[in-house]
Amino acid sequence: MKTRVLSIAAGAAVFLSGTALAAGNPAAKAMMMNSDCFTCHAVDHQLVGPSFREIAQRYHGSAASGATIATLAKKIISGGNGHWNAQTGGMAMTPHPQLSQAQAEAMVKWVLAQ
Ligand code: HEC
Repeated sequence: MKTRVLSIAAGAAVFLSGTALAAGNPAAKAMMMNSDCFTCHAVDHQLVGPSFREIAQRYHGSAASGATIATLAKKIISGGNGHWNAQTGGMAMTPHPQLSQAQAEAMVKWVLAQ
C-alpha cells in the first residue's frame, strides 16, 4: 500500500516536470508572439510550416545538441527550405534577419521543448 502511494506520487512528479518542460521559456515564447512565427507554425498541427511538435520530434527535443540548435537558429535568420517538403509541399521559411543568433537560439529551444 505504502509503495503504491509512493509510486503514484513519483508518477505525478514526472508528469508535472514534463508539463513544465513542455511549456518552455515564456520569454522566448513572447518573442515569438511578437515575431511572425505563429503565422506559419502551430504547436500541434501543420500550417504553412511543420508543427513545432513535429520539429521537436525530428531533432530529439530538449536532448538536441548545441550544434543542432545553432544550425536551426541560422535557418530561422537566413530562411530555410527543402527539409520538410513532404509536410509543406515545398514552401520556404522566410528569413528573419532582424533576429540575433542568441534570440533565434532561444526560440529554437522553445520549439524543441514542445
Ligand atoms: C512564411 C512562413 C514562416 C514563418 C513566418 C516562419 N516559419 Fe519556420 N518554417 C516555415 C517552413 C515552410 C518551414 C520548413 C522549411 C523546410 O522545408 O526546410 C519552417 C521550418 C522551421 C524550423 C525547422 C527548420 C529545419 O530545417 O528543420 C524551425 C525551427 C522554425 N521553422 C522556426 C520558426 C520560428 C522560430 C519562426 C519565427 C521567428 C518561424 N519559424 C517563422 C515557415 C515559416
